[in-house]
Amino acid sequence: MLPEQQDILWTFLTLAYTGFAFFAFGNVVKHCRDREDVNTKLWGGIFGVLAIISFIETVQMFDLTQQEQITFFFKYQILTVFVILLSWGIFFKSQKIEDQSPPLIRAFFFWTTVSVLLAGYTNWLPQQRSDPPPKNVAVDLDMTMEEFVEMGRVIVFGAEQVAGSKSIGKGQCPLCHTFDPGDNIGRCPNLFGVQERAETRIKEDRYLNSPFAIGEADPATGVVKGKPDQVEAGYMRDGDTGTLTGEDYLRESLMCPSCYVVEGFGKDGDTKSPMPVISKPPISLSKVELNAVIAWLQSKDTPGEFANVTVPLPSADDAAPAEAAPAEGGGDDRVFVTGTESIDQMINTLGCPLCHTIPGVEGAAGMLGPILHEKTNALNRIKDPSYKGKATNAKEYVRESILNPGAYVVFNEEAGEPYPDGLMPTTFSQMLSVEALDKLVDFISETEAPPEG
Ligand code: HEC
Ligand code: HEC
Repeated sequence: MLPEQQDILWTFLTLAYTGFAFFAFGNVVKHCRDREDVNTKLWGGIFGVLAIISFIETVQMFDLTQQEQITFFFKYQILTVFVILLSWGIFFKSQKIEDQSPPLIRAFFFWTTVSVLLAGYTNWLPQQRSDPPPKNVAVDLDMTMEEFVEMGRVIVFGAEQVAGSKSIGKGQCPLCHTFDPGDNIGRCPNLFGVQERAETRIKEDRYLNSPFAIGEADPATGVVKGKPDQVEAGYMRDGDTGTLTGEDYLRESLMCPSCYVVEGFGKDGDTKSPMPVISKPPISLSKVELNAVIAWLQSKDTPGEFANVTVPLPSADDAAPAEAAPAEGGGDDRVFVTGTESIDQMINTLGCPLCHTIPGVEGAAGMLGPILHEKTNALNRIKDPSYKGKATNAKEYVRESILNPGAYVVFNEEAGEPYPDGLMPTTFSQMLSVEALDKLVDFISETEAPPEG
């Protein structure tokens, strides 16, 4: 059945519904007129109000998506119909004229039949109307550098940066990084001053030779270290001459984090970076988006001044379809999950895999936080004498860990010290609906080590 046909059916039903309420009102008024001993004002008033309520509900119906209409219908409209039928019954009874009430019975049958049919009909229908329209972020070729830098800032922080809270956009950077001088949360470098640092890093011996030498390829990403003219075609610097610049360092940090690992921030003797590859899933920034982030990194410490920006503005080539349609969700929204997503989608959108290895979630191999084996871990944490939280079972512990990670800071056996407190964001409560949190807690509290062998 076509969507237009559903709409016609809904329109008919909801209009019939108001029609019914007005019919009841008219019928009662007519009976009142026929008899002198009836309180016309009282009964007319009651049915008038019910008719107006039905009318408002009908108007309301036109603003809802199909899924919401079904809920609304069964929650409010059916209820109003029952109130009307009941009041109508009481009216006839009180006037001792039940025998004159065939419309009551007819109406009752009509609405019971309609609701049963409707329930079957809507279950059988594909739910099309609530699908959000696909987002296409077109590349604007008339952008100024200021707008391009702003695009980068939005990819990092999202469009609405709420004062006093950690705001996180599609690029997910603030999950791990800080940006203001002196604001250090442990495991990830503060990105203040990174533009200048980039220029000097490429001349350091540590960059030239560690963890592997310039010209060698990183096995994980295939990126050849220090060779900007060999970067994946879509991401290469325009008109690249092969001479290494600060911009190339920043691009390489994003596309090949393990090509150079900032001292003290890596795994396995600073040979492996815990930072995700920003051009690959789940973050998957396109070339234009990546350049926008670099433009922002190069200019963020000198607000309003763009002299240090070396990345080019988007060009006509960048407007090609493959580039023009970044991953769904766009860069303009803050991260939020409603709970209707699949568990994998939810976890990837929230960014948990960037820090955690999570059994059952493909590609979730983060290294900054504990491996989530919460079916066993959670109960052990609660039993720990130093546990000061409020949880009494695994689900409560997981919920507490997500909403208030500082309630208990896990000890990292491998490193022989606690995990950094304050690294796991405390802002997930703002990124989750109640349903999404329940779903996430149910899933995480059942994670366990895969069977050996
Ligand atoms: C899961 C945590 C995480 C996320 C998310 C993340 N990073 Fe990183 N980043 C790190 C870690 C850890 C390092 C240090 C190790 C290294 O050098 O790769 C790092 C290093 C860097 C460096 C090199 C810093 C220097 O001083 O040389 C840059 C630049 C950078 N990140 C930018 C970004 C940007 C931009 C984003 C978002 C698009 C981002 N990072 C997202 C964890 C993260
Ligand atoms: C920026 C990195 C980071 C991100 C993103 C992150 N976590 Fe964490 N998480 C940590 C660190 C570090 C710890 C250990 C320190 C602590 O206990 O607070 C931790 C601890 C936990 C624990 C307790 C683990 C245990 O075994 O006791 C749970 C559960 C958890 N995280 C779930 C999540 C979920 C779910 C998400 C996504 C919604 C998430 N984390 C996102 C870094 C992160």
